[in-house]
Amino acid sequence: MPGLSKEITLELVRVTEAAALMSSRYLGRGNKEMVDKMASDAMRGMLDYIDMQGVVVIGEGEKDKAPMLYIGEQVGNWEENTPELDIAVDPVDGTRLVAYGLPNAISVMAATDRGAIEYLPTFYSYKLAVGPELAGKLDINASIRENLRVAAAILNIDISELTVVILNRDRHREIIEEVRKVGARIKLISDGDIAAAIATALPESYVDIYIGIGGSPEAILAAAALKSLGGEIQIKLWPIDEKEKNELTEKGYDIDKVYKTDDLIKSDNVIFAATGVTDGDLLRGVKYSKNIAITESIVMRSKTKTLRKIISHHNLKYKTIPLKSEGEVRFINGKKTK
Ligand code: FBP
Repeated sequence: MPGLSKEITLELVRVTEAAALMSSRYLGRGNKEMVDKMASDAMRGMLDYIDMQGVVVIGEGEKDKAPMLYIGEQVGNWEENTPELDIAVDPVDGTRLVAYGLPNAISVMAATDRGAIEYLPTFYSYKLAVGPELAGKLDINASIRENLRVAAAILNIDISELTVVILNRDRHREIIEEVRKVGARIKLISDGDIAAAIATALPESYVDIYIGIGGSPEAILAAAALKSLGGEIQIKLWPIDEKEKNELTEKGYDIDKVYKTDDLIKSDNVIFAATGVTDGDLLRGVKYSKNIAITESIVMRSKTKTLRKIISHHNLKYKTIPLKSEGEVRFINGKKTK
């Protein structure tokens, strides 16, 4: 059976573009459920155009909770002799950001060979992500102080010039205080830690380290991108309470285990695609001008480490997006077509 091939690269961009376009129609309307629903519907519809036997392994949750893009759902056209792929999706990372018209929301997906994506049993993980210069040099088990000291020494800068990205959450109060005490700069973000983790590996983003507790699926998607960029993510499972901790231990999980990039994505062949929904450090958001929608996407393939930025102009007079729920294509402006 064929595996992941480069021919699929542009197809994946079309998927995240469709999700970004649909969700961007709900910008600032205060309805994050709708943002997610429309992005998922477009992403799900678009995936079926791809020649592959895809299975969603990171998606919108379990089948009984998610009507589409649920874990285990088959996507693609499933024709004979098409590649058997595992698919990870986050139709919008930062649904709240889109709902309130805030920056840094992206639509994301990754594809890799069957069986290559690690299963993480917790909703949250504790994460540490860095770019190529710091890859393999920090230790998630070391103190914040020690990691920042090592990072500054390797980058040959003063600690006060280091920038650490952290999700602005109460659970991060101690981490934030410690980073401040050590004297590094902090960029607090309200949501969207896939883009934050990836930003550490992009020189023009001017951030060095991402630390903190965020979604486990988001860690897998960040790992898929960091594999191409030469960065690194380390994570540990983060049970929310003693009950979850005990359940994990009973099931045989070692909650002290450190998962590194290659443990999360176990193949050297992964393609990652993302499209900006709102303007951010990583990508510009969807722009509308008369009958044109402009999207900016990034796509990378770990095998060759090629990174492409793709700017697309979608002519809304002609543009159709297949929504899975409708069973037919429809215009981005909402008018149905056959
Ligand atoms: P959603 O778009 O699914 O709401 O996720 C946004 C996000 O900020 C992620 O990027 C992050 O990993 C997670 O939520 C953090 O979770 P919480 O908001 O519960 O702290």
